Amino acid sequence: MTDASAFTPSANVAQLKESATIAVSQRAKALRAAGREIIDLGAGEPDFDTPAFIKVAAQKAIDAGATKYTAVDGILPLRQAIAAEANRRWQGADKVTAAEVVVSTGSKQSLFNACFTLFGPGDEVLVPTPAWVSYLEMVALARATAVPVMGNPERGFKVTVAMLESAATPRTKGLMLNSPSNPTGSVYSPEELRAILTLAHERGWWVLSDEIYLRIAYGSPASSALDVAPSRERLVVVNGVAKAYAMTGWRIGWTISSPQLAAAMTAFQSHTTSNAATVSQHAALAALSMRTEADAAVTSMVAQFEARRDAALAILRTEPRIHVLDPKGAFYLYLRAPGAGKSASGSDAGGAFATHLLEKANVAIVPGAAFGTPDWVRVSYAAEQAQVEEAMRRLVAAFRELA
Ligand SMILES: Cc1ncc(COP(=O)(O)O)c(C=O)c1O
Repeated sequence: MTDASAFTPSANVAQLKESATIAVSQRAKALRAAGREIIDLGAGEPDFDTPAFIKVAAQKAIDAGATKYTAVDGILPLRQAIAAEANRRWQGADKVTAAEVVVSTGSKQSLFNACFTLFGPGDEVLVPTPAWVSYLEMVALARATAVPVMGNPERGFKVTVAMLESAATPRTKGLMLNSPSNPTGSVYSPEELRAILTLAHERGWWVLSDEIYLRIAYGSPASSALDVAPSRERLVVVNGVAKAYAMTGWRIGWTISSPQLAAAMTAFQSHTTSNAATVSQHAALAALSMRTEADAAVTSMVAQFEARRDAALAILRTEPRIHVLDPKGAFYLYLRAPGAGKSASGSDAGGAFATHLLEKANVAIVPGAAFGTPDWVRVSYAAEQAQVEEAMRRLVAAFRELA
């Protein structure tokens, strides 16, 4: 028998909350295990299998002995491939070099490396909201203060220079950017992004640009900070292979930053996880260097995401009371829950709607409280189109019941 009172969490993690998106997936899985047919639109994970050419490259790498430790910051050819891709965008004289790239176990780890290495007690970090669940927790783990900056739903929740200026204080040290955005699917135009990066440059803020959904954009390509930033001095570009190449389980992400910050993050990573899995690094190298195959795979997946988005929106728009954003990237729909704004502050219309949908209509979605907007819900369309359509019909019916 263990003594339950023996464990009390340290001050490091006392405030930590479980990831709400993972919690929803687990509840959906538990209901499924109990025999219920659940349509899971909660997950932030492409439903596609990793493209075959990447799996073949990984198998070959294992056969060739890629089973040992590598350099902490990753194998040189992968860092070179990441730098080469960055240099196709970055037009400054200070070309990106492999020494500025740190490969990690997923962009989540890269974001954490950057937060932990850059921010500390007394620092404030601006977080455009709604925001991906983990930013607030990562900033808090670094003992810095996250300052949510609420966007305007009429602009897809994108924040403006004026909004950031009014949230800033002399203690502001950093800014989290995420375009295309999880959860809204909004994409900053090159002009919007340039204006924000110019403000950050003038104020001396560090910018962590999380570009994990960069290649999943509809209509026109999404801009990277590397396309428009006035300087790379305090810019940390974060990306990975998880979403664009359907490689979530391989766990490969990276940062591109100044060599000094890269060295500090490498030192930190050397004491936490060391190198990312060797075989996964070789798989990521194939994804980045076999460009013809990769472009064909990404184009095909993005076209399928777009078809699902369009089909889902067409069904949602049959109910004019549903306020749904018009997403230009990623694979999420963000919509206002029925009853939103009706009760005083503290209401959780998104949570009530998500619970109702899961328990009564067998559809899993994520309450917007997870992202700082309790009146909204996030629907992922990373599932087969027929399932997405069926789920949207049930969602509309549930909305009408509750509205
Ligand atoms: C905005 C955002 N950033 C980072 C991540 C983490 O991705 P990775 O699998 O590369 O750690 C996710 C995954 O859900 C995400 O949505």
